[in-house]
Amino acid sequence: MDLKEKINTNKLPKHLAIIMDGNGRWAKQKGMLRAFGHENGTKSVRETVEATAELGIENLTLYAFSTENWNRPKLEVQTLMKLLVSALKKEIKTLQKNNIKLAAIGNLEDLPKKAHRELLEVIDKTKTNNRMTLTLALSYGSREEILNTVKKIAIKVKNNIISPENIDESVINEHLYTQNLPDVDLLIRTSGEQRISNFLLWQIAYAELYFTETLWPDFTKQNLYEAIIEYQKRERRFGKTSEQLS
Ligand code: IPE
Ligand code: IPE
Ligand code: MG
Repeated sequence: MDLKEKINTNKLPKHLAIIMDGNGRWAKQKGMLRAFGHENGTKSVRETVEATAELGIENLTLYAFSTENWNRPKLEVQTLMKLLVSALKKEIKTLQKNNIKLAAIGNLEDLPKKAHRELLEVIDKTKTNNRMTLTLALSYGSREEILNTVKKIAIKVKNNIISPENIDESVINEHLYTQNLPDVDLLIRTSGEQRISNFLLWQIAYAELYFTETLWPDFTKQNLYEAIIEYQKRERRFGKTSEQLS
């Protein structure tokens, strides 16, 4: 039986997030430069986006560039930004055809002007699409996001727009970059690393974590199906007992 048929479409994660890791090691294994790994990683992005939309998952968030990634060699950062621009130019058609809305989270002003402009253009062109929201985390760091949230709320308190007693979880949610997204249900990280690397710390509070040895450029639809099948086997108790759930 095809793996896809084993997926229960009534029990899909509402929000899937992926830490796409291992491009550099994939290239090194082949005796190639890291850039080659990043280029091949874009194919996995396309496959994953397609497979996620086909399954009927409503929200996909991809960690594409972290605040910490600015510390990589200048040439690698430039390559990644160029790849972003070319991918946006190339994939707009696919997004439109598949009715996918593009969104972005992170410190977007830090992106090179060209990448920033291209990104905002695709976001604008796809804003009425409603089959799936694809969110790219770019120049994203969860601590930076939380810091930014605290500042925005503090300003509102100072200007008497909100009182401290009324700050609750929903107020925080509304001020995070992910404001319109539900909590993450499933977080996948490729390449064998088992850490979060400053990704969606608030939003993954009760996410199921799935780690695979597969390097990102080797990640296919089948790998995605495997992760979702495993997710559907987990019992999500949210603090309750197993008996309470049944
Ligand atoms: C993920 O692959 C892509 C980005 C972080 C931008 P890496 O570039 O981190 O690949 P490894 O971890 O060095 O193999
Ligand atoms: C996390 O991967 C960031 C992205 C996938 C964009 P890294 O490769 O940068 O993470 P660390 O440094 O190994 O934790
Ligand atoms: Mg890495």
